[in-house]
Amino acid sequence: MALSSDSPKTPRPKRLPGRLSPNPRILKLHLSSYRELCPIQDLLPRRLPLIRLDANENALGPSPLARKAIRKAAAESHRYPEIAGEGLRDFVASELGVRPEQIVFGNGSTELLELLFHVSLRNRHEEVVLPRHSFPLYEILAQRFGCRARVVPDRNFTADLEMLREAITPRTRLVLLANPNNPTGTRVDNGALVAFAKGLPPHVLLALDEAYADFIDDPPPLREIIQQGIPVTVLRTFSKLHGLASLRIGYALASEEIARARQKASLPTNTSGIAQAAAMAALKDKRHQRKSKKTVRDGRLYLERLFRQLGLCWVPSCANFVMIRPPRAEEVWKALVRRGVLVRSLHSWGLPGWLRVTIGTPEELHRFAGSLREALRKVHPLQPIPAGEPEGD
Ligand SMILES: Cc1ncc(COP(=O)(O)O)c(C=O)c1O
Repeated sequence: MALSSDSPKTPRPKRLPGRLSPNPRILKLHLSSYRELCPIQDLLPRRLPLIRLDANENALGPSPLARKAIRKAAAESHRYPEIAGEGLRDFVASELGVRPEQIVFGNGSTELLELLFHVSLRNRHEEVVLPRHSFPLYEILAQRFGCRARVVPDRNFTADLEMLREAITPRTRLVLLANPNNPTGTRVDNGALVAFAKGLPPHVLLALDEAYADFIDDPPPLREIIQQGIPVTVLRTFSKLHGLASLRIGYALASEEIARARQKASLPTNTSGIAQAAAMAALKDKRHQRKSKKTVRDGRLYLERLFRQLGLCWVPSCANFVMIRPPRAEEVWKALVRRGVLVRSLHSWGLPGWLRVTIGTPEELHRFAGSLREALRKVHPLQPIPAGEPEGD
């Protein structure tokens, strides 16, 4: 018999059996970096449409070709997808000029990062090395796997490769580096990165998270390094430039040996047929890619002019978001939420006083600018806040 909403609920067990009860340390860590500064439901305005500039998504949405592919693949939803996304794998391999066996797909790069920990770490005495202000998932995974994370200070909000190299010990298995980095938007120099990768000891694997590399014109030549047998794995996602965040698909490129280990650790059919079809179409849709990149470039210039006009401190970014430090940032954040504008407070990311703003459409950025002016006036009533559009350079 189907249960209706009036059906009596199953009584909750008083205590979960020991093996099922969640490890409180894991839950606390996990939720704290993915949650907002405080529950936002009570702050959100009832009538205003929300402007979401908080998750570095593509404001233009999926490409027209991807939308078409999604509709077509949805009609085949009763069929299982290819086990390891073989069709898409061949296509990506031919685009990159590598062998298909070097590519592994995952349920977003989130899953690929978890698989990397599975295949790289054997016991809790082993270590991972990462820069201080990077994507929180790296530390979450280190905690989950019970290994030690050596967290290395940045230099000017940019990963310090020399310090990362010095932090490596005989116990290090993984170095995790996002380039461009989230949340700072900075990148490391290509030549320095190649030299760093080449100089790594053989027991260390470098995981280069390139979630935002589509937004730079000259990404580092990592494919060549991998082909030379240097232990590097590159992670790419369809969640950012390609606007497919909800479909959860990304890929890792590595040597065949590393890719094989990861493929063995992954579960069959970990990406859906819809995601595979959409990803292939998105890769083919160069027009949408160009348009999305232009939106980000123009939006970044607009935001920089705005921050200059308002006298705010920001970190120059090469990705689809910018980090700013308005005085009394947490109050400014709340005032923005009250106006229906969501940006990311970096308080729980170890950067109190900083906010991260995703570059949206021109209309969204225009509304953000108006709301930011209002928020600053509210939080700093005695300070003159310039009105009007920021002037061009
Ligand atoms: C640097 C970085 N890596 C990985 C991810 C996760 O991406 P995905 O949606 O592919 O799991 C993100 C998401 O914001 C990110 O910023």
